[in-house]
Amino acid sequence: MTWQASAPSNIALIKYMGKIGTGNVSSNASLSYTLNHLKTFVEIQTHNSVQDIWEPLALAGQPTPPISQKGQERFLKHFSLLKEKLNLKGSFTVRSNNNFPSDCGLASSASSFAALTLTAYQVAKEQNPQIDLTLTALADLSRQGSGSSCRSLFSPWSIWDVRGARDVDLPYKDLIHQVVVISDQIKAVSSSEAHKKISTSLLASERTGRAERRLQDLLLAIKNEDWKKSYELIWADFWDMHALFETSAPPFGYMSAGSLKVLRIAQQTWESENDGPWITMDAGPNVHLLYRRDQRDLAQRLQTEISSHFRVLTNL
Ligand code: PMV
Repeated sequence: MTWQASAPSNIALIKYMGKIGTGNVSSNASLSYTLNHLKTFVEIQTHNSVQDIWEPLALAGQPTPPISQKGQERFLKHFSLLKEKLNLKGSFTVRSNNNFPSDCGLASSASSFAALTLTAYQVAKEQNPQIDLTLTALADLSRQGSGSSCRSLFSPWSIWDVRGARDVDLPYKDLIHQVVVISDQIKAVSSSEAHKKISTSLLASERTGRAERRLQDLLLAIKNEDWKKSYELIWADFWDMHALFETSAPPFGYMSAGSLKVLRIAQQTWESENDGPWITMDAGPNVHLLYRRDQRDLAQRLQTEISSHFRVLTNL
C-alpha cells in the first residue's frame, strides 16, 4: 500500500534561534509565513524487508536527487520516532522530493519533516481508524524532527510558542515571495549547530525577551496593516539572529557580499519610495523578500534588477 502527503516550507519573520534541553524546544516564540509554492512531497509504501529505507520520489518535471547519507539517517530517525508514537506496524520505503531545485541551498527541513509527519499520520489512520490527532499534536511530533517544521502545518500564518504551533488569523494572507539564491553551497554551520553555538554569545541570554517583545509588536503592526512598522521589526529580528552568530565564541556567520548587495537593493526602495518589501534572511546567505499583492510592479522591477546578478525563485 502507498500513502502520500505534502507540506510547504515557511519563512520565519521572528526567528526561532536557540533551544532548551532536548527535542527541539525553542527558547523563544516565533512567527512565520507559509511558502505554499515551495513544497516537499512524501510517499510511504509498505515493503517486505526488515529495515525502512529512503529513496528519491519521482515528481513530474523534477530531477530525483539523492539526499546525503546524514540527511537520510536524520529523516529515517524521525520516521522511527513517528512509527513509535503513532504505533505503526511494518517496514516501509519512504520516498521524498521537493518541487523546488535541491541545488539552490534552500533548506528543505521544514517542509520535508512536516510532510513526513503528515504522511506517517495517513498510515496511522489506515492502521488504526480511531486515531484522531489535532494539527497542533501533529506539529508537536513534527517539531521533534525539525523545530521549524512545526510551523509548516499551518497557513498562511503560523505561530510557535510554549503552547505549541498553531495558525494565527492575520491580514496579508496572499503575499508575493522571492528568495534570492546567493549561494547554493552546503552551509559550513548547519542550523542545528547554530542553535547550540549561539549560547556562547553574550547577547544570547536576552534573546528570549527581545524576540518576545518584537513578536508582540509585530503581531500588532500586522493586525493594524502597518506594513512599514512590520518591515522594521522583521529587519531587526533577522539582524538580531545574525548578530548572535557573529558574537558567538568563536564567531561564525552566513552573510556574504552578495547578501549585502541584495539587502541594499531592497532597502533602497524604502529610502526612495517610503515603501518596499519585507526583507529577511535565515541561517544562510539567501535573502527572502515578501510583497503585498498591490506591490506587484515593484516586485517585478526588483526581480529584473536582482536576476541580472542572482537566481530568484518566486510565486510572482
Ligand atoms: O528547524 P531548524 O533547526 O533547521 O532551525 C531553523 C531556524 C531558522 O530557520 C534559522 C529560523 C526559523 O525560525 O525558521
